[in-house]
Amino acid sequence: MIDELDFAGPEHLDPGFVTGYEQKQGNPDPTADLDVLAAHGVGLTSTVVDLGAGTGIFALAAARRFGHVIAVDVSPAMLRVVRDRATAAGLENLECVQAGFLSYQHAGAPVDAVYTRNALHHLPDFWKGLALVRMAAMTRTGGVLRLHDIIYDFKPLEAETVLAGWLDGASADPARGYTREDFATHIRNEYSTFRWLLEPMLVSGGFEVETADFRGSVYGAYTCLRR
Ligand SMILES: C[S@@+](CC[C@H](N)C(=O)[O-])C[C@H]1O[C@@H](n2cnc3c(N)ncnc32)[C@H](O)[C@@H]1O
Repeated sequence: MIDELDFAGPEHLDPGFVTGYEQKQGNPDPTADLDVLAAHGVGLTSTVVDLGAGTGIFALAAARRFGHVIAVDVSPAMLRVVRDRATAAGLENLECVQAGFLSYQHAGAPVDAVYTRNALHHLPDFWKGLALVRMAAMTRTGGVLRLHDIIYDFKPLEAETVLAGWLDGASADPARGYTREDFATHIRNEYSTFRWLLEPMLVSGGFEVETADFRGSVYGAYTCLRR
């Protein structure tokens, strides 16, 4: 078994980076994702697991709308932020678990939804395949997987052109966005995969792809149903 902390991205373990994380992300609004889950019947009696929850942008909002939310992240620094915010907001239905895609042990009934945003690319493809099987195993039949990630929607021969365009669109300000060097580090050191590899992995993991939306051939969002 790999040690998922070795793959988590050193910045995600650094409390200094974590402090500025949401501003760097552009303070994303989780409402559209909450609405996707709600449209699939997720509600006040439902359980949702957020894998790679980060600072809890989604998990905290989800706990205000759904029955029980489990925020899982391998980074103690990230999870500390979620825990502190959940306590300050009195969100007793938000549980925090320090674990990874491959080490989280789900106890209790299968969940209604799994959410994961911009985290699965930390695992090499073999381990992504196993992580997806584990997600399916913790989800009830008919439950939902909402997945966002940096996923390459192009052919290998197009890599140079598409990735050059991605780098050209990077932020100039590291405090307010991902810079050219951040993107280059992602390409070199992280494990974003091709769309045409990920989709069979989703299917063999036990999911049916309901929707797939791509932006800039690099950012993918999936809604999948547990078969
Ligand atoms: C780019 S952040 C995304 C955080 C959050 N989902 C969001 O959208 O803001 C990636 C997160 O994945 C976590 N992570 C990395 N590898 C992981 C793993 N194997 N299992 C669980 N979490 C992991 C990191 O600690 C970090 O919090």
